Amino acid sequence: MPAEPAPRDHAPDPTAAASASPLSRRTFIHGSAALAAVNLAPGWLMSSAHAQGSDVLKIGLVGCGGRGRGALRNAIDAAAKQGATVQCVATCDYFADKALATGEEHNVPAEQRFSGPTGYQQVMQTDADLVILATPPLFRPTHLEAAVNAGKHVFMEKPVAVDPPGCRKVISLGDLAKEKGLSIVAGTQRRHDSAFQQHAAAVHAGSIGDIVSGNIYWCMGQLWYRTRNPGESDADYLVRNWTSFTEMSGDHIVEQHVHQIDVANWVMGTPPQAAVGMGGRLRRVTGNQFDSFAVEFDYGQGRIINSMCRQINGCWNRVDSQFIGTQGRMWDNRRIARYDKADIALPEVPAGTTDYTDRKVAKRSAYVNEHIALQSSIFTGAGLNEARQVAESTMAAVMGRVAAYTGQQVRWDDVMNDPSSAFYDLQVAVTPQDFENANVVAPADDAAPSPGGEIRPPRKN
Ligand SMILES: NC(=O)c1ccc[n+]([C@@H]2O[C@H](COP(=O)([O-])OP(=O)(O)OC[C@H]3O[C@@H](n4cnc5c(N)ncnc54)[C@H](O)[C@@H]3O)[C@@H](O)[C@H]2O)c1
Repeated sequence: MPAEPAPRDHAPDPTAAASASPLSRRTFIHGSAALAAVNLAPGWLMSSAHAQGSDVLKIGLVGCGGRGRGALRNAIDAAAKQGATVQCVATCDYFADKALATGEEHNVPAEQRFSGPTGYQQVMQTDADLVILATPPLFRPTHLEAAVNAGKHVFMEKPVAVDPPGCRKVISLGDLAKEKGLSIVAGTQRRHDSAFQQHAAAVHAGSIGDIVSGNIYWCMGQLWYRTRNPGESDADYLVRNWTSFTEMSGDHIVEQHVHQIDVANWVMGTPPQAAVGMGGRLRRVTGNQFDSFAVEFDYGQGRIINSMCRQINGCWNRVDSQFIGTQGRMWDNRRIARYDKADIALPEVPAGTTDYTDRKVAKRSAYVNEHIALQSSIFTGAGLNEARQVAESTMAAVMGRVAAYTGQQVRWDDVMNDPSSAFYDLQVAVTPQDFENANVVAPADDAAPSPGGEIRPPRKN
């Protein structure tokens, strides 16, 4: 039997300890200040606090798996740290038992525990102020569209799409959310890791000169997978075994390595201009994904970020990044050093971020910090919108995948700006609408793309 999924990104649930640790902290809205700020937030007031006469932020959860439930816990912890309260008012999962169990755990009214591929639409009709979107990424653009149309604030997990049209849709929905005064925060939590923020800020302030190159890694062991149950429908199988199919996850360069690609975009200040790369399916079981990628991301002016990701047991593992500047180097959120050994003063932790000096704790706490940032943007009405940033990182990851699958160079212009490019409208073969219309045909198992042209016949001697 395949192993049940571990909490992901595939390490022990990073958020469990965050809520349990008696950490010193520096929050930026406390009890009464938070309540005062609530009065500035018309959308939030209208939908909950004013109507109920209480400071309760109502949440609807779409996707009751490991991360969805974790994100809900993080949201509860984040509210507690700000003297506010979160109430889960709706749960939704493709599988009814999951929506029911999570609803039970959080005292969600029985009639607000929804299921099936259209259950998300019912969540959007509830009085939730905010929705957490934590299904497999194929569904994200569709679910985000429903949330923004319904006037909900959003926390959405990464990645936010699996193909170029999906990424572009998230960017335009982000713009629409801005117009409507809705906040969107994404699960690329390194952006909310205080140690990372300090290192990135120091680099942006020029402390290691101009960045000339870098390396990003997500090399680890085999991921969980599931085999098909006898008589199981194609749709159910794809949902249960979603991390094995490109159509559902985007492949692991998108699903997982997007975190490191996001760090590269953050440090470099822009998305890449082009990607070339290679990869293969060497040891993976079920599905149609690769299990290794090596991609060169070109950020222009000769600046190359080399990217590697692998999910194969018994190999060298590394999950981090390094950036090389003209005057020094930065290693992930751990260390920053100048070649001339001059001291680098790390900037203050940005306002609104918990200042944890222990970097491991900072990493765990990032899962809560992202909800503190989201909730406070709602309480104060200040607004926070990470849709473009995470969609650009997802798009860069998709570029890397397409480059490796096809053997071609894929340019940012191909996927963002040039409708005549073969890559612009490249869409995966299964759509969210197929699920909603009960029309899903699962791609073949144990098959994978083969880059390049035809194989030449053997030369006759
Ligand atoms: N930021 C992080 O560190 C982090 C960590 C883990 C996972 N994630 C991301 O979170 C998302 C979910 O991952 P997970 O580990 O929780 O997976 P999971 O398999 O544990 O949970 C996904 C849940 O979504 C449900 N689902 C599938 N399709 C649905 C639909 N159309 N409508 C409603 N529910 C649906 C599934 O039944 C399942 O319960 C993924 O995008 C993943 O990449 C992020």
